[in-house]
Amino acid sequence: MASPPPTDGAVLELRDLYVGYYRDLNILQGLNVKARRNRITAVLGANGVGKSTALRAAFGFLRPNAGDVLLEGASILPVPTYERIRKGLAYIPQQPGVFKDMTVEENLELGGWTFRRDRRQVREKMEANYERFPVLGDKRRQVTGELSGGQQRMVEIGRTLMAEPKVLLVDEPTAGLSKMLSEEVYGMLAALTTRDDLTILLVDQEIRQALKIADYVYVLELGRNKFEGEASEFEDLEKAFWVA
Ligand SMILES: Nc1ncnc2c1ncn2[C@@H]1O[C@H](COP(=O)(O)OP(=O)(O)OP(=O)(O)O)[C@@H](O)[C@H]1O
Ligand SMILES: [Mg+2]
Repeated sequence: MASPPPTDGAVLELRDLYVGYYRDLNILQGLNVKARRNRITAVLGANGVGKSTALRAAFGFLRPNAGDVLLEGASILPVPTYERIRKGLAYIPQQPGVFKDMTVEENLELGGWTFRRDRRQVREKMEANYERFPVLGDKRRQVTGELSGGQQRMVEIGRTLMAEPKVLLVDEPTAGLSKMLSEEVYGMLAALTTRDDLTILLVDQEIRQALKIADYVYVLELGRNKFEGEASEFEDLEKAFWVA
C-alpha cells in the first residue's frame, strides 16, 4: 500500500525502515530519515550502526523487510536502481571508485553514459565539471591514479554529477584523506547544494566536519534514531552523544 506523501519538503525519505543482510536479522530497526531540499542532511553514528546500510537501501541495493523509501513523496521501493538513477538519485559509496588507469576526462565521460549519444550534452556536462573543479580541467588528460586523494574524490563526485542528480547519497567522503584534503572535499560538497540545486544525504564518522557543513543531523544507535535536530543544536551535545 502506498504511504502518504511527506508534507515538509523532504525530497528523500527513509520511513520506518527495517533492513538486513540475512532473513530475520534487521540491522536497521525502524530508521526514519528525511533529506530536505537543497540542504545537507548528515547521518552520524559509530562503526557498524547501519549508516552505509541505510544508503544502500535508499539506492535499491538492499530490499527493506519493512518500511518505505520515498522520493518526492512517492514510494520507490519497487523501482530498480537503474530507474532510481533516472529519477535523480546518485550514490557515492564508502569505497572510492575511480578508474585509476583512465584519464580524468575518461572517468567523467563514464558518468554521462546514459546520454552518451548526445555528444553536445556530454561536452557541456564535462565543461560544467571543469568549472566546478578547475583543477580537473587542468589535469583532464592526466591518468586519474596520479591525482591526489582529494582530487580523485573530485573526479568521482564530478562523474556522479554528470547525470545531474537531484539527491546525492554520500558515504564517508573523506575516509582515508588528510585533514587538509578532507576540508577541501567538505567545502566542495557544501558548494554543491547552493550552486547546483542539489540535496545531499551524507553519512559520516567525521562528526566535527560533518556538523560544519550539515544543516540537519540524525544520530543513529544500532539501527535506530537516537537524536536529531538542526546542526547548530548539536554543538553542545557533541560530547554527550559521541561518548555514549
Ligand atoms: N554485506 C554485508 N553482509 C552482512 N552483514 C553486513 C554487510 N555489510 C554490513 N553488515 C553488517 O551490518 C551492520 C551495519 O553495517 P554498516 O556498514 O551499515 O555500518 P556503518 O554504520 O556504515 O559503519 P562504518 O562507520 O564502519 O562504515 C554491521 O554489523 C555489519 O557487520
Ligand atoms: Mg559505513
